Amino acid sequence: MKLIINYLKPYRSRVTLGVIIKFLGTMMELVLPWNLAYILDQVIPQKDPKKILFWGGVMLVASAFALWANIVANRMVSRIAKDTTEHIRGDLFHKITYLDTTQIEDVGVSSLVSRVTSDTYNIHLTLGVMMRMGIRAPILLVGGILITTTLDPILTLVLVAIMPIVFVMVTHISKKGVPLFGKLQKQVDQLVLTVRENVTGSRVIKALSKEAYERQRFENVNQSLVNAETTANVTLAASPALLDLFLNLGLTLVIVVSAYRVNAGLTQPGVIVAFLTYFTIILNAMLSITRIFVLYSRGLASANRINEVLRKKPTLVPGAIDQRKPTSTKLVFDDVTFAYPDGGPAIENISFSVKPGETLGIMGATGSGKTTIASLILRLYDRTAGQILFDGQEIKHYSLDALHQRIGAVLQKDVLFADTIRENILFGRTFSEEQLQQAIDDAQAREFIDKLADGLEHHLEAKGQNLSGGQKQRVLLARALIGQPDLLILDDSSSALDYHTDANLRKALRTHFVDTTKILIAQRVSSIQHADKILLLDKGKMIGYGTHDELLAANPTYQEIYQGQTGGQVIEE
Ligand SMILES: Nc1ncnc2c1ncn2[C@@H]1O[C@H](COP(=O)(O)OP(=O)(O)OP(=O)(O)O)[C@@H](O)[C@H]1O
Ligand SMILES: [Mg+2]
Repeated sequence: MKLIINYLKPYRSRVTLGVIIKFLGTMMELVLPWNLAYILDQVIPQKDPKKILFWGGVMLVASAFALWANIVANRMVSRIAKDTTEHIRGDLFHKITYLDTTQIEDVGVSSLVSRVTSDTYNIHLTLGVMMRMGIRAPILLVGGILITTTLDPILTLVLVAIMPIVFVMVTHISKKGVPLFGKLQKQVDQLVLTVRENVTGSRVIKALSKEAYERQRFENVNQSLVNAETTANVTLAASPALLDLFLNLGLTLVIVVSAYRVNAGLTQPGVIVAFLTYFTIILNAMLSITRIFVLYSRGLASANRINEVLRKKPTLVPGAIDQRKPTSTKLVFDDVTFAYPDGGPAIENISFSVKPGETLGIMGATGSGKTTIASLILRLYDRTAGQILFDGQEIKHYSLDALHQRIGAVLQKDVLFADTIRENILFGRTFSEEQLQQAIDDAQAREFIDKLADGLEHHLEAKGQNLSGGQKQRVLLARALIGQPDLLILDDSSSALDYHTDANLRKALRTHFVDTTKILIAQRVSSIQHADKILLLDKGKMIGYGTHDELLAANPTYQEIYQGQTGGQVIEE
């Protein structure tokens, strides 16, 4: 709950004002039955209509004030709850944007989605109810007991006797609630995951006619969610019902005892009427408190889940860069090994070095670790062992911003966003129109963009679904090539280009990107044979490193690939 309290701090004055208004309103409510007892026992026996009217008027004003105060305070509370939740949601989103790849994989994308949506909604509900009833109910409870004590201490004793039972019961049940609601939210994660997969994979599902299978899968997840919800609610629903029973027993006891006391002349009938009203007030206050406990359990489970994300510290903290170190290399991998958090090493003992303006080609079978190398250069992950130098400096010393500003990359699973082609290429950065046009030419995207009626202003759907595979790749290339970055990483980025376009792209890279250091990952020998060095990978290990000619002369695997792809003919451009 510390989380919520921290977030309420900026609204301190509004919260205080709301609490004061609520407090005054509730006090008025408390005074009403006492006032009634006074009228019944003291004023009416005097048989003075003026006095009766006066005290009746006082009651009317008090109840009007109580009503007004409640409405005003509730409105304030709603607004505060809304603002606070908005704040939490904003911070959560901000945090998620800056989480490391490993941390995101750790929590899971779907779980993050449900934390931003469903968990913040729970916080909103909890906050609203806590502030609306959290102040009123305890005041009514304590105030009610205090006033009844002054009215008739003996009767109050009866009431107070059942309180501990109720208290123990409520806390016991609520303690069970938090883990149950935690489980419930996990089921929500599962549901989001299934829906996400279904929607993103909708084309595949339709193409393979797997709708029935997917529906069954969804129903299973949905059923688990319903079960978790039922368990949580059934457990907590027991508490108001049991409470009701105990309080009604108490009420009966009070009536029996008070009948004896009135008969014996120990108390007055008006007091009994007031007492019964207070009893109802106290009963309702207790019920409200149990409801608060239920919501609190739910809110706490959600707050913990949100906090888990907010507490995450960036693990990729930059060190200091030594500007004086001159270097002749752009990028060096020195005996680098890396394992994904949940698996064995994806690459082992990789070493290579690339000079400024040079091209490194990386080849290897599926799963051999090519993309992993690209991810390490971009610091999406940090290597497990060895050293990576960028411009002669330990790569960990760069902030991610500084690093990414100098690298243009098209990743294998890169995405376009639901925006215009222009915005997708600029991607929030500032480049001149000339640079933009140049990038479009270099990326071989001119032809297809010119054919669009609205050209660069053409609006893309999420993930660029309204483009062909090759068109998507060209827009992604333009995004990476714009502004001639220091280092360019193209991971399988020409796979969807036809041979002719691919050749044009390579020509553009050779002529316009002389100063740019290029890392080209490809399956086709033709795409990388002109690279200064070629790195050949197999199952995460280096099995070849050299120029095309060197490898062709001495490396059996490379020879095999080359033979397989070209039939032994020399490729010309
Ligand atoms: N996010 C990840 N978490 C865990 N393991 C991963 C992850 N990404 C890749 N791997 C594993 O690391 C190994 C290397 O994967 P990588 O993506 O680098 O291969 P690749 O050479 O790029 O393959 P492809 O040619 O198919 O793109 C594989 O065995 C893969 O299962
Ligand atoms: Mg790959």
